[in-house]
Amino acid sequence: MSRSFFEAVKNRRTVYALGKNKVVSKDRIREIAEFAVLNSPSAFNSQSGRVVVLFDAESSRFWNIAREALRKIVPPEAFAKTEEKIASFDAGYGTVLFFEDQSVVEGLMTGFPLYRDNFPVWSLESNGMMQFTVWSALEDEGLGASLQHYNPLVDEDVRKAWQIPETWKLLAEMPFGSVVAAAGEKEYQPVDSRLKVFG
Ligand SMILES: Cc1cc2nc3c(=O)[nH]c(=O)nc-3n(C[C@H](O)[C@H](O)[C@H](O)COP(=O)(O)O)c2cc1C
Repeated sequence: MSRSFFEAVKNRRTVYALGKNKVVSKDRIREIAEFAVLNSPSAFNSQSGRVVVLFDAESSRFWNIAREALRKIVPPEAFAKTEEKIASFDAGYGTVLFFEDQSVVEGLMTGFPLYRDNFPVWSLESNGMMQFTVWSALEDEGLGASLQHYNPLVDEDVRKAWQIPETWKLLAEMPFGSVVAAAGEKEYQPVDSRLKVFG
């Protein structure tokens, strides 16, 4: 990480204008994904998070799946806008898919009935931490990324395209690429209305 932790956290932004300029190697992106998978925390150290990294044509294959799935449900007059949005995600050079293995979550629910209702929630929280680690690390390398949710619309086709195990539930998709235009200004609510400190 070239920046301090605080700088990296602050610099992580939603970047929609992506390009295919390979400013970071595929090996480095693989390392980032590996780092996030290994080091993100999970409830009971269950390690239920799963990640798939798609580069180039494989990434385009994902966005084609999303486009065709949306074509079936978006009214024709609104589809041009949808297509434009999908093209902007496909304009990057890769996409990270985030999953949670439901067999792990269900195993915990059965094994620890006292916490049964908590495990699905903790699974989502834990996956969010993994998403955040990847997102921040990509930005720290100089790439732009955003977080998208075309699941569950695309789930079956994704499963078939990359032989994803039945138990892996798709939660989020993160298109990334070179930064064509930086993120816009961000508004912040007053921190005093969101944070209380005692003692
Ligand atoms: C749980 C979660 C879900 C999100 N879902 C989407 C999404 O489906 N599409 C999208 O474009 N952005 C999505 N975002 C990005 C937020 O809109 C964005 O993080 C927020 O506006 C703050 O901007 P920033 O990311 O630049 O700090 C999501 C963010 C989070 C944390």
